Amino acid sequence: MNWFNIKKIIKEINDFKICVIGLGYVGLPLARLFSTKYDTVGFDMNQSRVDALNAGHDATMEVSDVLLQDAIKNHGFKCSTRLDDIRDCNIYIVAVPTPVDENNRPDLKPLWGQAKL
Ligand SMILES: NC(=O)c1ccc[n+]([C@@H]2O[C@H](COP(=O)([O-])OP(=O)(O)OC[C@H]3O[C@@H](n4cnc5c(N)ncnc54)[C@H](O)[C@@H]3O)[C@@H](O)[C@H]2O)c1
Repeated sequence: MNWFNIKKIIKEINDFKICVIGLGYVGLPLARLFSTKYDTVGFDMNQSRVDALNAGHDATMEVSDVLLQDAIKNHGFKCSTRLDDIRDCNIYIVAVPTPVDENNRPDLKPLWGQAKL
């Protein structure tokens, strides 16, 4: 790998804009942590969940209010239900539910629903 390639990779890393879709037990801690290094938006279909998170409180207590509020105030972390707020992201991480049926087969409908957006 030459110096040009290294500089290109560093530029690409600095240009990351990450969207985490589904701000539950998995997605929110991930999004909060990413936000400390990269421009990050959290996306969820549940407006009241998004409102509470933007107000600095995670009802699931997976992320402490201190860390969440630090991410919002000092790292520009925000959550949204609006597609327009995530259109310019270049990395999308999906963490929506995949419940299993009686045969332990995952129901992938929420995942496909997200992929269509
Ligand atoms: N919770 C765990 O301990 C755990 C462990 C390993 C893997 N997982 C996997 O991680 C994934 C997420 O699980 P979780 O426990 O975080 O789920 P969760 O139910 O805690 O949160 C899911 C979030 O996704 C949102 N959501 C659902 N459909 C959506 C859609 N179409 N668009 C946007 N947001 C949507 C919901 O509003 C909710 O806030 C699942 O596939 C699960 O199997 C979870």
